[in-house]
Amino acid sequence: MTAGEQQRYVGRKVSRVDGPAKVRGEATFTAEFDLPGLTHGVLIEAEIAHGRVSRVAAQAALEVPGVLGVFSHESGGFDLQAVKGYPKGPAGTSILPFQDADVKFRGQPVALVVAETLEAAQHAALLVEIEYEEQEHHVTLDDGIGGFRLADLRTSRMELDHSRGKAGKVLDSADEVLEATYDTPTHHHNPMEMHAVIAEWDGEDRVTLYEPTQWMQSAQGTLAATLGLEPDNVHVISPFVGGGFGSKATTWPHVLVAVLAARAVKRPVKLVLTRAQMFAAVGYRPATRVAYRAALEEGGKVSAMELRASSQTGPVDVFPEQVGSVPKMLYATENLDFRQQLVHTHAGPNIMMRAPGEAPGAFGLEVLMDELAEQAGMDPLAFRRANHTDTDLESGKPYSSKHLLECYEKGAAAFGWDRRTPGVGSMRDGDTLIGWGMATSVYPVYASAATARARLCPGGSFEIEAGSHDIGTGTYSILAQIAADALGVDIGRVRVKLGDSHLPKNGYSGGSRTAGSVGSAVLAAAQGLRQEVLGLALQDPRSPLHGVAPIDVSAEGGELRAGERRDTYSDILARSGQHQHEVYREVIPNGGSQKQLDQLKKGKDGSVEAVTDEYARYSFGAVFVEVRVDPDFMTPRVSRVVGAFDIGQVINAKTAHSQLTGGMIWGVGMALHEQGETDPASGLLTNSNFADYHIPVNADIGTVEAIMLDHPDFHVSALGARGAGEIGIVGTPAAVANAVYHATGKRVRSLPITVDKLL
Ligand code: MOS
Repeated sequence: MTAGEQQRYVGRKVSRVDGPAKVRGEATFTAEFDLPGLTHGVLIEAEIAHGRVSRVAAQAALEVPGVLGVFSHESGGFDLQAVKGYPKGPAGTSILPFQDADVKFRGQPVALVVAETLEAAQHAALLVEIEYEEQEHHVTLDDGIGGFRLADLRTSRMELDHSRGKAGKVLDSADEVLEATYDTPTHHHNPMEMHAVIAEWDGEDRVTLYEPTQWMQSAQGTLAATLGLEPDNVHVISPFVGGGFGSKATTWPHVLVAVLAARAVKRPVKLVLTRAQMFAAVGYRPATRVAYRAALEEGGKVSAMELRASSQTGPVDVFPEQVGSVPKMLYATENLDFRQQLVHTHAGPNIMMRAPGEAPGAFGLEVLMDELAEQAGMDPLAFRRANHTDTDLESGKPYSSKHLLECYEKGAAAFGWDRRTPGVGSMRDGDTLIGWGMATSVYPVYASAATARARLCPGGSFEIEAGSHDIGTGTYSILAQIAADALGVDIGRVRVKLGDSHLPKNGYSGGSRTAGSVGSAVLAAAQGLRQEVLGLALQDPRSPLHGVAPIDVSAEGGELRAGERRDTYSDILARSGQHQHEVYREVIPNGGSQKQLDQLKKGKDGSVEAVTDEYARYSFGAVFVEVRVDPDFMTPRVSRVVGAFDIGQVINAKTAHSQLTGGMIWGVGMALHEQGETDPASGLLTNSNFADYHIPVNADIGTVEAIMLDHPDFHVSALGARGAGEIGIVGTPAAVANAVYHATGKRVRSLPITVDKLL
């Protein structure tokens, strides 16, 4: 942009550019694609938690008219290559489907029926009889198969054990020590759109995969590696994704099964998981426990903390739920010792789920802070201010940009926090108990290498291409906004293409990184295109702009302008003799190097972590909650939530607001509703449906307000955006728990806060 140019779209409330297509049903989601000769698969999952399949009796199923095959480890032809790095990288688990008779978790795919129609496949699946030999299983955090010290794993900073100062010593000699243990249960991702796949082969070595994915390159890489194909021979198509929350970041075994079945029947196969299968086949957030000892000093300073954490992980693979990521860095506690142990269970492979680690980890820390504030006789907000830091004590680096104090101030003002009376049960509305609680939110910045193409087309319209994803967050819209501003054109002239592995490579759409990362590449490509088109005009004696100084030229209204001398994109292109003009750009994120770009090009995660050589880069927020509790029935209701967030540059004030309020609503669900209930005897997840696995509905939510500060963080990228996807959830469960305590005097340290815990 040059001086005087207005950002017409970035930062504003812009309605989704793909909204009309979605409303009209013109946005095609995976399960809606129809291909000639399409067949239908139904997945059969293990009904024991540990053991072996002793027999697959498929004859009756095979006799159903229209059935094309029943596949299992017995059927052959399903050989897959075990791939190094497979567990924690692309595919969620190293337990590859149909390779042997072993069953390592309940819900593991053991057979697939393929038929001409879905109805025939469903009917036949009921006729497949599978016999098992059971072995002893362990499915809960308390009953694991043996511990795994996180210290033994080479992993990222976020996940690592950490020690600074002399926590043990300070705690042993402290006058006031608080000990408390916090628990969170398993949570199961349930995006509105079920996982689905359509696989179509072209010969024996080329496959097209339709899959709703948060990471196309990973889908491509997983198929290529396990099937022994060239990555370029795997074409992934994923234009719209109906939510993912981490579950669609990996290409799960059911996808491999559908792909292999399609090769076997020589027809395209469609497989759509059922809602019940969504609870077992695509990962989950594991149960966590963190035991704290914290030392309190005069003035409310927390001088030392010791944390002993444990979390569930899969039967074979290791995926740490990073519950230490928040407590290690959030406050000015100089002495801190964090250790985490992982416990293998036969509860299936766990995976990241919205704010993985941060959400459960912040629950314990932020309830602890409330307990400590009470012990210190301080207001919870004043107590957090007393423990504020402008340096990340975990890494020793300054924060790139931190406006947490402003979040406290603006959030408290909007909520009316100064009217809070401190006593438990002291605020009432008639008989109804009112509780006000608050908590701090924080989320790391992950920035990925990114690539994009910008194209000027005949007539002066534009195309933006990026092999990235819109997982419901608004990627189509924000990329169109960024490009329209950079080019000085109406947003209606810009068409964004995403969700195809033939488009310029991009990374994982998770960890709240797509807006900042892919947005930066689109900004670079659009700016580059504008510059090149201007170059064409400046050199062209027929252009009114011929010979002007580039610095005097601005872009507005589809024109390049220098005072009264103006030329349009469309005319410049027409005179240039080119049919179209395109520019491709690669962007290395700040704090990164060529290494991230090289990794991206190899289909790996080309991301820079939150802490760079120079800065600790995090988004911040503060969440304030009002609950109302009926004193007779002790039913907690959330009547009001106000969150204030420091997320860097806001690109779209409408979609970012939706992300933040959606996150806070999810946080209310985590506080009051969500919990996987696994029966230890059978290993069965007993509530794998929306009647029994509760999530908030409108009636559970009063008003939710998100305040967005406006401080671009240019240490992160030229765009200054830090991401809005996950931070909304982080502080909310603790804020609800703290409000419930304020209303009732019941300190609930184990989520969810159900009525039985308040009686
Ligand atoms: Mo997410 S759990 O970064 O999709």
